[in-house]
Amino acid sequence: MEEALPLNARQRSAFRGRLLAWYAQHARDLPWRRSRDPYRVWLSEVMLQQTTVAAVKPYFERFTAAFPRVEDLAAASEAQVLRMWEGLGYYRRARSLHAAAKMIAGELGGEFPRDVPGLLALPGVGRYTAGAVASIAYDQRAPILEANTIRVIARLLGYREDPLRSAGQKLLWQAAEELLPAKDVARFNQGMMELGSLVCTPQQPQCGACPVAKYCEANRLGLQHEIPAATRKLAMTDIREAAVIVRRNGSVLMRRCAPGERWEGLWDFPRFAIDAEGPLFVEEELAAKVREQTGVTVKPGPLAKTLKHGVTRYRITLECYEATRTGGRVRSTAERPVRWTPVAELAELPLSVTGRKLAKLVTP
Ligand code: ADE
Repeated sequence: MEEALPLNARQRSAFRGRLLAWYAQHARDLPWRRSRDPYRVWLSEVMLQQTTVAAVKPYFERFTAAFPRVEDLAAASEAQVLRMWEGLGYYRRARSLHAAAKMIAGELGGEFPRDVPGLLALPGVGRYTAGAVASIAYDQRAPILEANTIRVIARLLGYREDPLRSAGQKLLWQAAEELLPAKDVARFNQGMMELGSLVCTPQQPQCGACPVAKYCEANRLGLQHEIPAATRKLAMTDIREAAVIVRRNGSVLMRRCAPGERWEGLWDFPRFAIDAEGPLFVEEELAAKVREQTGVTVKPGPLAKTLKHGVTRYRITLECYEATRTGGRVRSTAERPVRWTPVAELAELPLSVTGRKLAKLVTP
């Protein structure tokens, strides 16, 4: 097979040596770097998918304090796990993490898989996470490719096409593999990510401070600002939603989001998209949808608050209404539980970020 890297064996070896020396000097002291416990490595890598180091740090500390070992995570309820994850977003990660912990603590007898194929069999573990755990916890010779290393390697190769398309991914994975040293893979892979976060940054890369700039095609051609090629941005879509606060004797009407919903497993106030164009007919629509979601009949009152927030490619305007119950009974099933929840108990339920804002609004 043709090689992806434009470097000969001597240059590769020099590249590895320089990168490792740079990492020894510049590695940040991050909470998940203090141990090589595969559970902690795995947890940190799952949290770091789609989330910044700064945002992950406090979550990692709290999560590992609550669930110090994979057995503790396996024994927790899904609601407890989601409550700990609350605010990190992409909750599917937390549900998969929990399912994988149960698998490890159960059928795998508490033993983490040690190689990429074994890790790939866990829910929520893809090629990147498997490579990260195998290399960082076990020093296995497994390549990794994530946001930082995609940028570093695309620049190194002078790769001008979109690195996220399949041809680009194939080439970059191959290059990541060709770059790997025979040993010290844990530090090498983390060094590549660290170089991407601290030096080979998306804007204003510090090529003057880069230990491997002399091997970099983008640097040689002055293309570091053009590479990696901008990927197509998803168009933002505006949506209008309503959430309804229905109170009764110090409790509020809450439902747990069902499988397939955006916030599966999280609890929420009755919430839905509203179709009505303006304020007209909103009242009827709210009453119909609250009844559909909960079984309870309400008379909507005034708009209490409007919250703006973004989720992936949606720009959401959330109108929050108060409503009073006029009849009907809670319709609750095992898969779609609905409950009058005492306001004081909202603190224990996992909620979305906007759900938590509403909970604060109703908590005296
Ligand atoms: N991004 C993804 N994984 C990382 C890690 N282990 N350290 C720093 N940034 C990362």
